[in-house]
Amino acid sequence: MMSMKICIIYHSETGNTRHVAQHLSAACGEPRLIEVHDLATYSHLTRFLTRCKKARGEETTAIEPSSIDVSGFDLIVLGSPIWAFKPTPAIHAALDALKGCDGKPVVGFFTHGGMPGTSEATFTSWCKGRGMQVRGTMGIHMKDIENEKKTKELVAIVTAACARKDA
Ligand SMILES: Cc1cc2nc3c(=O)[nH]c(=O)nc-3n(C[C@H](O)[C@H](O)[C@H](O)COP(=O)(O)O)c2cc1C
Repeated sequence: MMSMKICIIYHSETGNTRHVAQHLSAACGEPRLIEVHDLATYSHLTRFLTRCKKARGEETTAIEPSSIDVSGFDLIVLGSPIWAFKPTPAIHAALDALKGCDGKPVVGFFTHGGMPGTSEATFTSWCKGRGMQVRGTMGIHMKDIENEKKTKELVAIVTAACARKDA
């Protein structure tokens, strides 16, 4: 796996997805790790509902960085929270922001509160739309982010994706 150049890209508002991304990064020999920030400002009162509405509509949002060149990487890993049963507008925007992703293998992971809905299917269709090959997806309940068994399961998915690319 170490011979593979991996790029982990994630979005996280309250730290759960960041936590998993950092564990995964450590287990994969510290590959490139990119956090995507949602630049939209939401009113305090309507924050939750507005974000749900945007996510449910599979909208994108302005993000930083606005362009992500992955042409030098062999495997892309994307991590997102689940909002309204979907990956977030920021990770959707990150997919749109990728440069040089055509034909590349991708793995997705999602942290959620127990209702991930059809987020994995949504993610798969977005990736296919960018010409990427989905090699695995995994949902992790927020109560399991410290669960070593779950981290190992995710590392195994990434390792298998690497082995398949090497083959
Ligand atoms: C706007 C919003 C919508 C959410 N919608 C869902 C949902 O539909 N299903 C679910 O299981 N969890 C939902 N959650 C919980 C988050 O997915 C969960 O807390 C996640 O781990 C947050 O990741 P983060 O800490 O990296 O931001 C929602 C959270 C927010 C803020």
